[in-house]
Amino acid sequence: MPVQPTWDVSQIDYRAIVNDWHAVCLSSEVEEDKILPIRLMGEDLVVWRHDGAIHAWKDYCRHRGAKLSLGWVKGDRLVCPYHGWEYDGQGQCRHYPAHPSRTPGPRSRAYTHKAEERYGYIWVCIGEPKGEVPAFPNWLDDDYRKVSAGPYVYQANALRAIENFLDVAHFPFVHADLNGDPNAPDELETYDVNVTPEGLTTSEIKVFQPYGDHRGIPVTAKYAFSCSSPTTAYFEKKTGDTERFCTLMMATPVEQNKCIVRLIVAINFGEELTTEQILKRQDLVFNQDRRMVETQRPHPLPVNVRDEIHLSSDKLGVEYRRWVQRRAKDHDLSILTEAPTVDA
Ligand code: FES
Ligand SMILES: [Fe+2]
Repeated sequence: MPVQPTWDVSQIDYRAIVNDWHAVCLSSEVEEDKILPIRLMGEDLVVWRHDGAIHAWKDYCRHRGAKLSLGWVKGDRLVCPYHGWEYDGQGQCRHYPAHPSRTPGPRSRAYTHKAEERYGYIWVCIGEPKGEVPAFPNWLDDDYRKVSAGPYVYQANALRAIENFLDVAHFPFVHADLNGDPNAPDELETYDVNVTPEGLTTSEIKVFQPYGDHRGIPVTAKYAFSCSSPTTAYFEKKTGDTERFCTLMMATPVEQNKCIVRLIVAINFGEELTTEQILKRQDLVFNQDRRMVETQRPHPLPVNVRDEIHLSSDKLGVEYRRWVQRRAKDHDLSILTEAPTVDA
């Protein structure tokens, strides 16, 4: 059975993130009794909603391999478009139209995955989640205005995209005259990276930014990063005693070398500024990053730190690579294999 996704499971980045939650779409993209096909880690999935509950399954009918995403919702069931098998919300087939009096057996189940809704997005784990959806500390704080940005489609590995997000040394060059001055790049002070089984956090990293946020004014910014899953990262940026510009970045791994970057920014100042002003700057910055990340070689993140050259300012990237490598070693992929089945 094609239970395994097409992504090569021997790849380190696959093994490091298979048990993580990944943001796959906006909650609003999946309406009641509607179906949305999505792709995650080389797998076609069908996401659907009934009675408000969200379901994310492999886009695959156990009968003849048809795409469930071509089907429809009927009552509380998802109906396969080919021979009309009806699956309930737990993925169990409840009705074979060609044999209406026969009770479908336990093997006639869709391949279900875990799904959650958080922060206005739908999160899916195709393995066994080891914890909660990554934290977003500003989400419930009414002092912060929240704006979703993206999606930005990168023809690049998701881990490359996140490492770029965690890297301030590129600011003066990739984001020249926005996040840094190419003619006077900051000399970066040393900073601390705390590594725990839950992820990475840093002390503050100070940089000068000529156009530091949507206000278009120069700021001295202090970034504190955290990363609780390899494909989800966060920073809090201080630009004054009380001003905070925070960003949750979600890099959805679509294929090994394709990801979709989604952001939620949380800002506690500049109420008078428009959403368009915020999005304009985000779009500019993340499209500038795209050019770098899409052209880095090799396309996968080199997690063996000997493969590239690192400076002290790369400390967060180095620890990120080591952490990804450790997670890959820890993860058991046996959950992704299943013996062939005959029928109910
Ligand atoms: S392939 Fe789905 S019902 Fe036959
Ligand atoms: Fe960048």
